[in-house]
Amino acid sequence: MAGQISQRFIDDLLARTDIVDVVSERVQLKKSGRNHSGLCPFHQENSPSFTVSHDKQFYHCFGCGAHGNALRFLMEFDNLRFPEAVEQLAGRAGMQVEREGGEDPGAAKRQQKREEGVNLLELASRFFRERLALGQGKTARAYLERRGLSQEVIRDFGIGYAEDEWEALKRYLGAQGISEAVQVEYGLLVHREETGRTYDRFRDRVMFPIRDWKGRTIAFGGRVLGDAKPKYLNSPETPVFHKGRELYGLFEARQANRQLSRVLVVEGYMDVVALAQFGIRNACATLGTALTADHLQRLFRLVDEVVFCFDGDNAGRQAARRSLTTALPSMIDGRQVRFLFLPEGEDPDTLVRQEGREAFENRVTCASPLSEFLFEQAAEGHDLKQVEGRERFVTAVLEALKRLPEGVLKSLLLKELSSRSGIETSQFSDWFATHAPPAPRPTAPAGDDGFEAMMAISGEAESEPAPMAEYGDGAGYGEIRGGTHAPRRGLTAARGGTATLSLSWPARIVQLLLHEPGLAETLPESLDWCPEAQPDGRLCREVVKLLRAGRYRSPQVLLAHFHGTPEGERLDQLARREMAIPREVRASELANWVRHLERQSERLTPAQEYQQLLAKSRQPGALSAEEKQRLRELIGMLATGGGSA
Ligand code: UTP
Ligand code: MN
Repeated sequence: MAGQISQRFIDDLLARTDIVDVVSERVQLKKSGRNHSGLCPFHQENSPSFTVSHDKQFYHCFGCGAHGNALRFLMEFDNLRFPEAVEQLAGRAGMQVEREGGEDPGAAKRQQKREEGVNLLELASRFFRERLALGQGKTARAYLERRGLSQEVIRDFGIGYAEDEWEALKRYLGAQGISEAVQVEYGLLVHREETGRTYDRFRDRVMFPIRDWKGRTIAFGGRVLGDAKPKYLNSPETPVFHKGRELYGLFEARQANRQLSRVLVVEGYMDVVALAQFGIRNACATLGTALTADHLQRLFRLVDEVVFCFDGDNAGRQAARRSLTTALPSMIDGRQVRFLFLPEGEDPDTLVRQEGREAFENRVTCASPLSEFLFEQAAEGHDLKQVEGRERFVTAVLEALKRLPEGVLKSLLLKELSSRSGIETSQFSDWFATHAPPAPRPTAPAGDDGFEAMMAISGEAESEPAPMAEYGDGAGYGEIRGGTHAPRRGLTAARGGTATLSLSWPARIVQLLLHEPGLAETLPESLDWCPEAQPDGRLCREVVKLLRAGRYRSPQVLLAHFHGTPEGERLDQLARREMAIPREVRASELANWVRHLERQSERLTPAQEYQQLLAKSRQPGALSAEEKQRLRELIGMLATGGGSA
């Protein structure tokens, strides 16, 4: 292809560019040793795992695996295509881009055409908006009104109307000096080979402009006013529009929300605008295609949480399964995906009109977390009372988890699988070892598949792996949902103790609740016992409230709720700590701790509390380990003259 940017020029350009400069113009970097590091701009994180190497002229993120050179960085960060990134870097270095074949008159022309193209789509968009407002737009206005759309929403989404004419737009654009060839290239005109005739692609349709992240119109979707087919007509693929990458309404969602934290993915244009009409301004739609990895990548750069809406019918569940598979590899820690199934025959548009905003938002809040949907899918069609059925259930979950990046989420899901199946987590690592081990992680030392290391971090590594036979013949299964769990070896006294003792009381409670969310229900109604003055106390109150509201039954959802905040970091720390309390006594321990805090909150001074504990200690064995610890703390506190706690 003539006019391609020459490799020599690219080499030259990279040689004159320092990636550290390019990155630091966009990301705050700190020098650490030979490298620079900072918070990764490509995923949400609280501690820096993004590094830039001056020597190698590369960036690399140990968290999400993003890596590349300065050009790649610009493409990813600024959302540029390769030639645009080269242009940008060249401009920065004061260089003129050189193309293959030296002087290339075609290149300049193409560039001009491209600019023409972008302007042209803007012009067309304005034309459609004007037509909607004029006499010809009367039926379309009536249609939009019938569909319940206000002027405000019509304006925000730039909705217009293509009149019922063969050459209205063509004439208009022609008068602006835009060639027919360009109009064809950008999908506004249809060119009939046989006759050589060109005419407007969109006629007598309500027009939805599809905008890119900067708000530039890059394509259109047009809906018929009646029942004609096709109901929607979309722009074809053009130099600026790739269906599998764009999401309708994403620009508008960003405009409406300064701090977008969650995006709702729906199916249709009308769903997006109807939700906006009801004040739900964080929805976007794929453009008649299935969800792609590109879509997800785009979404997760903006937000941590994506909720997919599906029809409740079979096709909807099928689409949900596909989306789950697409999403798994993107699920690095802190990201969350949930699945919302609508009643059969309804779409978000019809539903929000029927039920209103609050009811719809409640549905979103209660949408199934990825974990729930995953387990449900894996269990579908299998008789879990049968060994074979359970085996298939476990295998299906493991097949899915194989696609999941290493992290807290994966380890929590393995733990959950273990408790649902009664199989020790150590056996899962055997399974992973024999079933296409996960892609090597840059952080893991050679030969380590990362799994053991991860389990060790989360405190779940079992010291003696159970034999594989147990897994095959089902002898090792506990009840799948029946609540008898395989005893956990080596997790109690020997390893416990010291790890938890340094935690504050509320932190211990939070840690316990992370492991046993159901225990929140055993707590006293009033939260007065929970000290509001300490950060851990505030966190504890928050956690209890969320658990009670019934929305956060699984720890990963709870973690995701706080993601990106100091509380989230604290929760993450707590989740990673060993849980030293055996399951059987967790409820009673929790009650003890709360009673203890209750006593504290009765505003005993440290001296009074000390006296009380001291008195109690006179009966042999009366003090619990915690009380002994508290006594030691009090002694320390009183000895150093502190007494305000
Ligand atoms: P639906 O048929 O569910 O339409 O298509 P809808 O969004 O509910 O629209 P209304 O409420 O009837 O106006 C969902 C999406 O599938 C794509 C469009 O993106 C549409 O929004 N689609 C549908 C097409 O691209 N072409 C079609 O002919 C139909
Ligand atoms: Mn609809």
